[in-house]
Amino acid sequence: MTNSTTPPVPVTTEPSLSPQGFEANPARGRFNSAFFSVMGGYINWHMHQRKAEAFADLSPHVIELGPGVGANLRYLPSGARLTAIEPNPYMHARLRRAARRRGVELEIRSVVGERIDLPDASAESVISSLVLCTVSDPAAVLAEIRRILRPGGRFSFAEHVVAHPRTPTRWAQRILRRPWAWVFEGCSCERDLAGLIASAGFTSVDLSPYRIHSPFVPFNTHIAGTAIV
Ligand SMILES: C[S@@+](CC[C@H](N)C(=O)[O-])C[C@H]1O[C@@H](n2cnc3c(N)ncnc32)[C@H](O)[C@@H]1O
Repeated sequence: MTNSTTPPVPVTTEPSLSPQGFEANPARGRFNSAFFSVMGGYINWHMHQRKAEAFADLSPHVIELGPGVGANLRYLPSGARLTAIEPNPYMHARLRRAARRRGVELEIRSVVGERIDLPDASAESVISSLVLCTVSDPAAVLAEIRRILRPGGRFSFAEHVVAHPRTPTRWAQRILRRPWAWVFEGCSCERDLAGLIASAGFTSVDLSPYRIHSPFVPFNTHIAGTAIV
């Protein structure tokens, strides 16, 4: 028998795992977390020398955008503190474990790089690798980096970028752009990040392009360097 006075069963919705501005996909989020955990060593083998140069002499407290599962923990000075701007909740457990293994004091902030919840001029070192390709608005992220760095503070980066026009790598980037972006959660291999960083209003920028030779052809064109506020 139905009791018409019974109050309706409340509809409970799962609290959103995603911070504002980032849509975490459970399947692809888990896949990417596992992918970067398994392939991190291989990717870093290609990028290590450039990262070691760009990430040399970091301050004891570093802000990292999109650290993923912790590919750059090895470049932090010993006893470092890391503030991780990582909106993807599927990265957090691996990142915490990796930080524990390396003795890095970690604080994760589940916000996007376009809206960093840190005060103006509060940071000395900001780093990123393979992140500006994925964020929704790289120009907004660069503006946030400039805002949180103190005068003289340094942004150190290692990113993959668009290839030269009319090259086989550029064609591969064009042809594969949709499946690539789908699998790697919005990653674009077609961004002129060198141009974007150069015109982002830093006092000085020192970057160099380089090429890796991997079977992931759209991913083979890179830049690494530093930008000073
Ligand atoms: C390709 S992974 C690179 C991870 C790591 N930096 C590395 O080099 O292995 C891209 C990372 O950027 C993060 N990310 C995506 N959108 C972001 C945003 N808007 N702000 C900050 N991080 C973001 C992802 O969650 C992921 O951890």
